[in-house]
Amino acid sequence: MTSGIRKAASIVGRSLAPGKPHHAQWLVTRKCNYRCVGCNVWKEQDENELSTDEIKKGLDILKDIGVIELVLSGGDPLLRPDIGEIIDYASDRFVTTVYDNGSQAAKKLDALRKVDFAAISIDSLDEAKNDYIKAVPGAWKNAMNAVETLQKEGIKVSVTPTISQMNLYEIVDITNYFTSKGIPVWYCLYSYDTSVDSKQLFRIGKANDEFVITDKQAMVNLCNKLIELKKKNKKILMTTKLLETLRSLYEEKEERTWKCQALNTFLVVDHLGRISGCHNHNFAGSVFDLPEKWKSEEFKVLRKTYHNCTQCNYLCYVFYSLYGSPRGHLSLARDQWKNAKLLVK
Ligand SMILES: C[S@@+](CC[C@H](N)C(=O)[O-])C[C@H]1O[C@@H](n2cnc3c(N)ncnc32)[C@H](O)[C@@H]1O
Ligand code: SF4
Ligand code: SF4
Repeated sequence: MTSGIRKAASIVGRSLAPGKPHHAQWLVTRKCNYRCVGCNVWKEQDENELSTDEIKKGLDILKDIGVIELVLSGGDPLLRPDIGEIIDYASDRFVTTVYDNGSQAAKKLDALRKVDFAAISIDSLDEAKNDYIKAVPGAWKNAMNAVETLQKEGIKVSVTPTISQMNLYEIVDITNYFTSKGIPVWYCLYSYDTSVDSKQLFRIGKANDEFVITDKQAMVNLCNKLIELKKKNKKILMTTKLLETLRSLYEEKEERTWKCQALNTFLVVDHLGRISGCHNHNFAGSVFDLPEKWKSEEFKVLRKTYHNCTQCNYLCYVFYSLYGSPRGHLSLARDQWKNAKLLVK
């Protein structure tokens, strides 16, 4: 059996097991070389982080508790000198995505060979606007070069614009531009942390009036347009169900149609190995305590609290909440999941 088939078989097995956290985001570093105006991470950097071996041990534990999809984020994860070893280890066990602000990927091609998605963050086709958002001159050129280089090298590259009022009217153009070149697109949605928990694990979204979506009708129209485009454009990775859920938030009723599944179908791990349901809440233990902690009374209580929480709309958490269960995975497969093909490589 090839390693790709072994991985696919192991993932299918885990995806059918109920009551497991199928998605994990590991923020493997808090170092960042950019200064994005909608993000807090660069302001709160930390030199400390887990060693390569500690991360590998943690990844084994995540696999044991049922995780099938792993996102390596940060900070900028590719700033870690050992990121290639981490990606190789993770990619053998999970459907693995690694984020990059576009500054590192082209320099770290060998580190990226085995990843399922190298997600490059690009927020605009307009160079000046993108560099304003990233607050680094040259950010746009770096990111465009990264996408082109990775594609030429046969590395699985995707782009991830963060939808905000600043780029709302060009999301369709951004989507068409990249997907017409064969590059898949996923989206983030600009959000900011409301300090639900004064001891939150990590601060990401920073309140910024320029980014808050004020043209709600345009957002509804965008969701409708993307749902329409998806029928023909298989490179739009976001699912119809997620787009419909997003649309409900901006329709007249502003309905929140999902219940949060933090610490149930997904969890977050920080650069020191601390875990939480999401970055907005305090840590509730360490990844190394997980097999026992996962079944603890403490976690059952936290799950209930998070289930009733409505404090954020980070799209990854909405996605994990919609698709964490075996039923969710089946519906994901129906909607667009190509992982069977993706994994057997
Ligand atoms: C926090 S970054 C970390 C990874 C890497 N540094 C990068 O920029 O891709 C992960 C993703 O979150 C997006 N992001 C940044 N600020 C955000 C915010 N306030 N709300 C939602 N997404 C945000 C980034 O554009 C990026 O696509
Ligand atoms: S979005 Fe990414 S690149 Fe920008 S400051 Fe935050 S962590 Fe750094
Ligand atoms: S809604 Fe869920 S992901 Fe968002 S802050 Fe609350 S518990 Fe965290």
